[in-house]
Amino acid sequence: MSKVVVVGSINMDLVAVGDRHPRPGETVMGRELHLLPGGKGANQAVAARRGGAPTHMVGRVGDDVFGVELREFLDREGIDLQEAKAVAGSSGTALITVAAENNTIVVVAGANDALGPGDVEELPLGAGDIVLSQFEVRQPTIAAAFRLARDCGATTVLNPAPADTCDPGLLELTDILLVNEIELCTLLGRPLSDELTPGVAAALARDLRAHPDQIVVVTLGSAGAVAVYGDEAINVEGYRVAVVDTTGAGDCFAGNLAAELSRGAGLEQALHAANKAASLCVQKLGAGVSMPNRRATVGVA
Ligand code: RIB
Repeated sequence: MSKVVVVGSINMDLVAVGDRHPRPGETVMGRELHLLPGGKGANQAVAARRGGAPTHMVGRVGDDVFGVELREFLDREGIDLQEAKAVAGSSGTALITVAAENNTIVVVAGANDALGPGDVEELPLGAGDIVLSQFEVRQPTIAAAFRLARDCGATTVLNPAPADTCDPGLLELTDILLVNEIELCTLLGRPLSDELTPGVAAALARDLRAHPDQIVVVTLGSAGAVAVYGDEAINVEGYRVAVVDTTGAGDCFAGNLAAELSRGAGLEQALHAANKAASLCVQKLGAGVSMPNRRATVGVA
């Protein structure tokens, strides 16, 4: 079976839960504080592993107590950590507020910034593997991993989150681009005024394609997702569920999409599984710990 290799961030999330978010300059009282494993890369690795794929994590933690706890968590999940090493300094951290079915996140990269292009030039990749990355590690590092993936016949999946502009060379190396509405508009350099309809999202996704073979998937929260490839489009309906915490929902989608593709599922089947998994993820607090397993998502282990 092919594997999922995640090149990405590993963070400790400091999560404050309250009734509403503070405005700039304001202090509000929260109800709970949780220290939970997170980081877009690590969350996606957990999602892929619980989604049934052999999974490798490529990243860096600090030589602090958070680094030890984060590696222990990922190890218990059964993720290969040979390329998830500790370096001197602080681990990545994220300050998260959860209130009113929404969140805000501030990430301090810490050790994640130490992962350089030279660290990903000899990853054990094979044909059929999926290499998945996000924007909490540096773009030259992602590009180096994707170049190697191309040479090895692996598929590259880029989730440019948090939203930022993207080096055109990296976009060119991307087989599947997975974006939410904000990331889509950021990459296109256009303002996001309202929520996008699936039709508008599909049209914008076509504009974004860096090469004719590229697949662009746009996640639309509770409205589901849309994917464009060639002249075709796939629409996946969203689920109406009681939302506890949306943190990590996009990561859940990405990890499950990668896991399904690595086991040879078609794009439509993979999108349905990823969409269902994300709807389960938002019903629990936290990111890494809220990823569902494959039995819950598609009914089989
Ligand atoms: O996508 C959610 C993640 O973003 C959190 O776990 C936090 O660590 C930030 O990276």
